[in-house]
Amino acid sequence: MELLANKVALITGASRGIGKAIAEAFVEHGACVLIGDITPEIFVVGDALYQTANGRARAVRLDVTSAEQAQAAVDAAVREFGCLDVLVNNAGIHRPHPFLEFPLAEMELVFRVNFYGSFLCGQAAARQMVKQGNGGCIINMSSASGKKPDEGGSAYNSSKSAIISLTRIEALELGKYQIRANAILPGATDTEMLRDVFTQVPGLKQLLEERTPLGKMAAPRDQANAAVFLASDLASHITGEQLVVSGGEFMET
Ligand SMILES: NC(=O)c1ccc[n+]([C@@H]2O[C@H](COP(=O)([O-])OP(=O)(O)OC[C@H]3O[C@@H](n4cnc5c(N)ncnc54)[C@H](O)[C@@H]3O)[C@@H](O)[C@H]2O)c1
Repeated sequence: MELLANKVALITGASRGIGKAIAEAFVEHGACVLIGDITPEIFVVGDALYQTANGRARAVRLDVTSAEQAQAAVDAAVREFGCLDVLVNNAGIHRPHPFLEFPLAEMELVFRVNFYGSFLCGQAAARQMVKQGNGGCIINMSSASGKKPDEGGSAYNSSKSAIISLTRIEALELGKYQIRANAILPGATDTEMLRDVFTQVPGLKQLLEERTPLGKMAAPRDQANAAVFLASDLASHITGEQLVVSGGEFMET
């Protein structure tokens, strides 16, 4: 079943990991996708998607910390596919340091990518959606780490908390335009970002799996399926919410 037929989506940070899985899932569900990333690999992913999706995919170089590049990506989606219905703010970075030694430059970098990037792309996309007058959907990739502390997470966890707050503001202020905004809060998901953390913290992978009721990490596709649902008309009355995808590790008490 195609849940996203006739929808046009912009997905940030789609060179690999969860963003790439979201792009693949979106085209499988009939969407046209413009994918962006700071790395040149985005064009390799874009070419592969273009082939499998019969032309319903394009790639752009996008640094989400730049307002100009965020606007250019939105303009490219409209130029290539006629409109923009869905934004997935997926690009993110993690720079763990102990609180007492946390370098200000690293704090600024993480907030620029994770939080300002979501703000800038959200603003550019929402302005376009308001102009179209057709509603729209913003999906912000937060994290379960936005709701609980992790050692070394002064920047990452705080930026992910801020994204939850931003999502609610977007839902509140954009609802009158029928633009929905929701956050996905992944638990541990098997991507290169997490594999980097596992090399630094021996035993963490086993610990995570043991404390997860479903007994395993998420696959990137698990997060992508949540994004498909939130972007689809099945979620047409859901806004301002947080969808935790963690195999039960972060179930609310
Ligand atoms: N993997 C996990 O366990 C996990 C858990 C919770 C939340 N998340 C979140 O999910 C999202 C994707 O994570 P992932 O595990 O796939 O990470 P990843 O590192 O594999 O992918 C992140 C992508 O973002 C891109 N990126 C970084 N800076 C950018 C910038 N300035 N502009 C554009 N693109 C940029 C990277 O090049 C990369 O392709 C992130 O926001 C992350 O915080 C991941």
